[in-house]
Amino acid sequence: MTESKYGHPVEEELLDLILSKEERLRGNPQAILAEIDEFGKKKRIMNVGPHKGEYLIAEVRKHKPNVIYEFGTHTGYSSIMMAAELEETRDENAKIHTFDMDEGFFKISEQIIALSGLSHRIYQHLGKVNEIVEKVSNDEGISRVDLVFLDHWKDSYISDLRLLETVGLVTKGTVVCADNVIIPGAPDYLEYVRSPPIWKRNYNQKTKNPVGSKYVGRWGLIYESTIHKAKTGGGDMDGLEVTKCVGILDG
Ligand SMILES: C[S@@+](CC[C@H](N)C(=O)[O-])C[C@H]1O[C@@H](n2cnc3c(N)ncnc32)[C@H](O)[C@@H]1O
Repeated sequence: MTESKYGHPVEEELLDLILSKEERLRGNPQAILAEIDEFGKKKRIMNVGPHKGEYLIAEVRKHKPNVIYEFGTHTGYSSIMMAAELEETRDENAKIHTFDMDEGFFKISEQIIALSGLSHRIYQHLGKVNEIVEKVSNDEGISRVDLVFLDHWKDSYISDLRLLETVGLVTKGTVVCADNVIIPGAPDYLEYVRSPPIWKRNYNQKTKNPVGSKYVGRWGLIYESTIHKAKTGGGDMDGLEVTKCVGILDG
């Protein structure tokens, strides 16, 4: 058995495969994504995949975000997918800030992103979202996020969204896309984004945010939310929830 360098043998196998085809793949994001898709048919790889990815890209195309936050970089698949779309439709200032707390995944994705030629669009941050997102935002001078892609551990979806709401990064016009809302599922999150402000006011008052009680959330944000059902790379039916903040109630 080969020794694991980053603690993730499957993702390392993918990295080795991609690096072995470096000449053909360098500067070709779509070919890299296709390579990861092919690999994913044989070995389980936890990325958004091409089918749900189409819905994610459609949101990027539609809303033309300048600032994207992605929670969960993993191998860099969805970062590359969104950055390739930014490259087509947005000026050079449009950027993705992607976060991952796992150093092994950080290093694997760093190499795949570098090979894609899209490092100028993708800023990687190593750490747990709730521990670093405020500092990153302050350091980068970011006061609002246009599109958030939630794709980290599902039990962090509500807590990290409440954090972003509290510090004002989610505001009118922000779109929040959340992966895996059917498999493995995120019923609490769906209730949170689909319920009216009055429900959220009660929820936020009664439910302490595990990532910090000061991150109560902002109940007055009015959300419109829709699910897009599509298959995972492995062929199971899953969903991407797309939530748009369409207004803000005072209070
Ligand atoms: C499903 S994968 C992301 C897949 C990626 N978005 C894609 O489609 O290519 C989830 C990733 O989230 C990271 N993660 C989980 N919880 C996190 C947290 N609280 N902060 C930062 N990263 C986290 C994991 O280390 C893992 O790499």
